Amino acid sequence: MQKILVARPIFPDVIDRLKLYFDVDWNNGEALSPEALHQRLADKDGALTAGDPIGAAALAAAPRLRVVSNMAVGYNNFDIAAFNALNVLGTNTPDVLNETTADFGWALMMAAARRVTESEHFLRAGKWDKWSFDAFLGSDIYGATLGVIGMGRIGQALARRALGFNMRVVYHNRSRVAPEIERELNAEYLSKEDLLKAADHVVLVLPYTAQNHHTIGATELALMKPTATLTNIARGGIVDDAALAHALRTRQIASAALDVFEGEPRVHPALLEVENVVLTPHIASASEATRRAMANLAADNLIAALGEGPRAGQPPNPINPAVLGKART
Ligand code: GLV
Repeated sequence: MQKILVARPIFPDVIDRLKLYFDVDWNNGEALSPEALHQRLADKDGALTAGDPIGAAALAAAPRLRVVSNMAVGYNNFDIAAFNALNVLGTNTPDVLNETTADFGWALMMAAARRVTESEHFLRAGKWDKWSFDAFLGSDIYGATLGVIGMGRIGQALARRALGFNMRVVYHNRSRVAPEIERELNAEYLSKEDLLKAADHVVLVLPYTAQNHHTIGATELALMKPTATLTNIARGGIVDDAALAHALRTRQIASAALDVFEGEPRVHPALLEVENVVLTPHIASASEATRRAMANLAADNLIAALGEGPRAGQPPNPINPAVLGKART
């Protein structure tokens, strides 16, 4: 039997599925240190990860490794150039999380706009002693302008929901989406700068790449309306968290909501000090059904890529399909 590492705790029934095909080494505990990860990969043919960094050093430590299946749509934890150099396949879990993640983007955007967690903290602290006409005044979602940066599958699901809220939708993306999608979503393409000036609620849904590092920093925050909100459901590092904390503290923008952070699970201490930010621990895709779908899709990819199961040799979500069928070097 081929050997695989499952680097993280996942649903036990998915482990049982994998055991039908593989000798499974399951790390059902804390995230592995790079050294422990490399050691556990040394004799493995495949691995299932969830954000664990896999670069040249990990691949060099694992001479048999042919596929790494990430239980996430984002795969910035993979060094794809290193994968390609050694003919190692990477796979991810797109599509199954689109709607759930878009729902959560709305939950965060609305919580930021209407100051849901900030007012809850006030109530829990025992500070609520009277109804007040001006307590926790926020901004409207209905009829406002939504700015989506990153108009991929999740960005489109997010924008589609805005139709029901009578919003103007503006978006920025590496390239314009097809005219029929713009029409369906009633979405208007703008430069990043124009979007930041126009939007009442900016939501980030773009992948993390070197080019997207600090897509939102001090310069961009300065372009936003003082009444605007910023929501990040994409990846840590897309926002300069220190600059954002400063903009929130000085009320350069009204509020923000973050599900992802630079260097998570650590959170920039300055963000913990400001009240006008909603903070959640990377849970945008975390509905029971969707996390199950992601785990099963990650397993499907691994099983197929290692030549087993009904789709042997044809994993559903190859990131670098050019290496399929090539021998590991
Ligand atoms: C989660 O962050 C994912 O990329 O799926």
